[in-house]
Amino acid sequence: MLIDSYGRKITYLRVSVTDRCNLRCFYCSSKDSFAKLPPEKILSYEELYQIIKVAVSLGVKRVRLTGGEPLVRKDLVSFVAALAQIPGLEDLALTTNGILFASMALDLKKAGLKRVNISLDAITPQKYKEICGIDALNQVLAGIEKALEVGFSPVKINMVVMRGLNDDEAIEMARLTLKEPLEVRFIEFMPIGSGAPWEEDLFMPVSEIEKRLKEVFGELHPASKIGAGPAKVFTLPGAKGSVGFISAISNHFCHKCNRLRLTPEGRLRLCLFSDEEIDLRPFLNQKNPQEALKEAFLKAIQRKPSQRSLDTSPKRLMRSIGG
Ligand code: GTP
Ligand code: 5AD
Ligand code: SF4
Repeated sequence: MLIDSYGRKITYLRVSVTDRCNLRCFYCSSKDSFAKLPPEKILSYEELYQIIKVAVSLGVKRVRLTGGEPLVRKDLVSFVAALAQIPGLEDLALTTNGILFASMALDLKKAGLKRVNISLDAITPQKYKEICGIDALNQVLAGIEKALEVGFSPVKINMVVMRGLNDDEAIEMARLTLKEPLEVRFIEFMPIGSGAPWEEDLFMPVSEIEKRLKEVFGELHPASKIGAGPAKVFTLPGAKGSVGFISAISNHFCHKCNRLRLTPEGRLRLCLFSDEEIDLRPFLNQKNPQEALKEAFLKAIQRKPSQRSLDTSPKRLMRSIGG
């Protein structure tokens, strides 16, 4: 069992399988560099599998694959199929930008993927291109449609809200939940990654979005949550789906933190906001890697901070943490 020094049970591992991405989102890029990890630094699927299996043996019940963009890594479907067979793993999910999802949705579903969260920061083509760098809105919308069609439920949509940039599209985004069983989540913009363009002026607390939604749609009703993430979930009157709020900055949820992150090069990241990481690669080459990894996890977990600190901005870019 993974219990940290503040008594929090760690049951959720977010695994970034690549730092490569087929989008150039404004907030995820850096003025400093767009350097990528050299390929030989990235763990093989076999190595990732070994680490995940040990995590599950220690009580991790949920795994989420992230990136970069996880679907740009070759053979992800086979990796999903292998993970889906791990006894004790109850939830296997994916966070994707959705561009390649339509063509892979059915194979991923058949391979055993249980849930998908798709990033969508704008609902008009021009704004989408402005934020994400590429004119790909229709591909993402096709991905969302396909996700519903092949039976993923719920399909969650992630919108990072930035004042003056896309906050004017929040109402339209929420409207998507009226007719479709989507969970549209509004996420506070977080200052992560050295050189990333976070500015106080761009920050908007999700309470402001909540207020606007109430003005337009009426009272929001608390809804039951599926998944283990930090969103608070509500339904709009008469809606098929739901809306969620992720208040990472204005009202953090660290006391309930249940997660660890694994970076593409095999470093265990203890908190999204802290650059302290434990390199697991050396343990993979030991005589009894399983035991060595177990010990490394148990030791690492004791170093997990009680909560995020906003005093020192983490240097590593979101691209290689996976959110
Ligand atoms: P489920 O609820 O299980 O579907 O997953 P999730 O909401 O945790 O996953 P997703 O990858 O869709 O993340 C949504 C947003 O929440 C992203 O912006 C993440 O960066 C943010 N987020 C996820 N986990 C944490 C966390 O532990 N701390 C903070 N501050 N933000 C997080
Ligand atoms: N702040 C908040 N959310 C972010 N994401 C990426 N960078 C940031 C940031 N700085 C979101 C992505 C994706 C999720 C995994 O994290 O849009 O939906
Ligand atoms: Fe956990 Fe760090 Fe996220 Fe807080 S900011 S919920 S401690 S990962």
